[in-house]
Amino acid sequence: MNVNGTPYRTIWLADDGWSVEIIDQTRLPHHFATTRLTTVVEAAHAIKAMLVRGAPLIGATAAYGLALALRDDPGDASLVAAHDQLLTTRPTAVNLRWALQRVRQAVAGQPLDRRMAVAYREAAAIADEDVAICRSIGDHGFGVIQAIHAGLVPGRPVNILTHCNAGWLATVDWGTALAPIYVAHGHGLPVHVWVDETRPRNQGASLTAWELNSHGVPHTVVVDNAGGHLMQHGLVDVCIVGTDRTTATGDVCNKIGTYLKALAARDNGVPFYVALPSPTIDWTLRDGVAEIPIEQRDPCEVTHIAGRDETGRVCTIQLVPHGSPAANFGFDVTPARLVTGLITERGVCAATPDGLAGLFPDQRSVAA
Ligand code: MRU
Repeated sequence: MNVNGTPYRTIWLADDGWSVEIIDQTRLPHHFATTRLTTVVEAAHAIKAMLVRGAPLIGATAAYGLALALRDDPGDASLVAAHDQLLTTRPTAVNLRWALQRVRQAVAGQPLDRRMAVAYREAAAIADEDVAICRSIGDHGFGVIQAIHAGLVPGRPVNILTHCNAGWLATVDWGTALAPIYVAHGHGLPVHVWVDETRPRNQGASLTAWELNSHGVPHTVVVDNAGGHLMQHGLVDVCIVGTDRTTATGDVCNKIGTYLKALAARDNGVPFYVALPSPTIDWTLRDGVAEIPIEQRDPCEVTHIAGRDETGRVCTIQLVPHGSPAANFGFDVTPARLVTGLITERGVCAATPDGLAGLFPDQRSVAA
């Protein structure tokens, strides 16, 4: 996507041909800054501290992290240590495990002097494939938005509610939940996006709003608790969110608060779609609530908040009384029964075992 007229992906190889450049998302929306990763330690830090975040981008960064490790030392011990270090950075998004496995399989059996090149090639392939997948999700999701638009009073925009940031910043390009919105906007179909602020880290207010603002997509930031009210008053035509891990049965795990939106959507007859690239599907799981590990982050993200003051300085302030404990659950699981449909790169399907297996028959044996 474009930033001030320059096309960007969220991760790319630097001019030196080996170090990895990323957009430092902790500095948005107030500063657009890129930074370089030169070691696996830096890659792991970038994922853990959320300079990069979003399930697909976490996977792509981890893949490049393994390549950086093999550049320093292509031996087996280095490979295993780097894999383990990267795998523990964030527990919920399954793309991380998937991408690491893919690079490890690609380098397996390669002579030591070939491993680094093979790892870089595989990481680049993961990144390129993600772009194609997300573009395809955009096209299939556009069909959903078009169908909703056809049922509205002529001229009225489609009101879409989204949670967290599942835009191009969360992927290598295009995004998942926002890709259909970009495609619709590009086709001139009128859309308006309700952007949940997404406490505690405010990925909606900081990142989704920044993306939509940069691309001229009409949007309004709302507090996380506004969704139910908006839906009761007919102000939401459809919810579209992303997911960090999807079970073979169609349960979806996404940013904390997603489940409450799905409940409100069901109560108000609002369709609730989840957009996902297939590497987000964990075919080994059937019960998302029981089986998906939920990341718990530093309570400081709840007790404090960062923003820009009137002098332009970005600062952090404390919100809660000194001594009040806080808990910081990063994700929740929305059961498949609350999901209207899954928007994948292969099309839209029901959030059911048969729906997913119908689109991905090649995975049927893993899911059984
Ligand atoms: O904690 P984050 O910012 O990594 O969480 C991101 C999300 O919850 C996204 O909705 C999810 O990764 C899907 S992104 C395409």
